[in-house]
Amino acid sequence: MEHTQLASEVQRLTESLEQLPEPVVKPAFIVVSGLPGTGKSYFCSQLAQRLPLVILESDALRKVLFPSPNYSPPESAHLFQTIHRLIERLLKRGIPLILDATNLSEREREHLYRIADRLDAKLILVRVEAPPEVVQERLKARQEEVNLVNKSDADWAVYQKMKSSVQKIRHNHYAVDTSRDITPVLDKIVREVRR
Ligand SMILES: Nc1ncnc2c1ncn2[C@@H]1O[C@H](COP(=O)(O)OP(=O)(O)OP(=O)(O)O)[C@@H](O)[C@H]1O
Ligand SMILES: [Mg+2]
Repeated sequence: MEHTQLASEVQRLTESLEQLPEPVVKPAFIVVSGLPGTGKSYFCSQLAQRLPLVILESDALRKVLFPSPNYSPPESAHLFQTIHRLIERLLKRGIPLILDATNLSEREREHLYRIADRLDAKLILVRVEAPPEVVQERLKARQEEVNLVNKSDADWAVYQKMKSSVQKIRHNHYAVDTSRDITPVLDKIVREVRR
């Protein structure tokens, strides 16, 4: 991507964000990873209620750049190139953030590890899971309800297609099963961020 185009798209994404939290010295950089319907967005919003964090939701940001998204590999490559630059900009300013995206492969996550390292951010990884039958029910319900909050177009077919892309996270991480009580993991992360 051309430098000026990248810069102007980062700017557009920045303008789409809610009010940013205050800068801090070593900002938290929280990354969730999980298949569609496992409860990533729900988990992120619960965490953001307890900590000053800006949520970068890839599904919402995608629609800022691509109002009628096609989810093609080139579209996603373009989107994530822009998101990575946005993350760098925010962390450089000391803004704590949470990246709400599937982040299924180690190749995708490698970029994030490197950014965290380079900018000396507090990287916290979270594997978000739920039993497949729970996910199937949720996705069905999510599709049926008139939902202004949900930004994802993913359904059960997408879940099944993406299943083969899941790779083990090769770093220390939290694991949360969102069909159970998520507060113990929220508590632990809140404590780690405040430490
Ligand atoms: N812990 C939970 N308790 C109750 N409902 C939940 C919980 N987690 C998620 N849900 C519900 O399940 C549905 C799917 O969750 P969510 O949208 O957070 O998944 P997601 O991982 O963000 O999916 P996608 O990758 O498609 O964005 C939503 O309607 C959400 O409200
Ligand atoms: Mg989501």
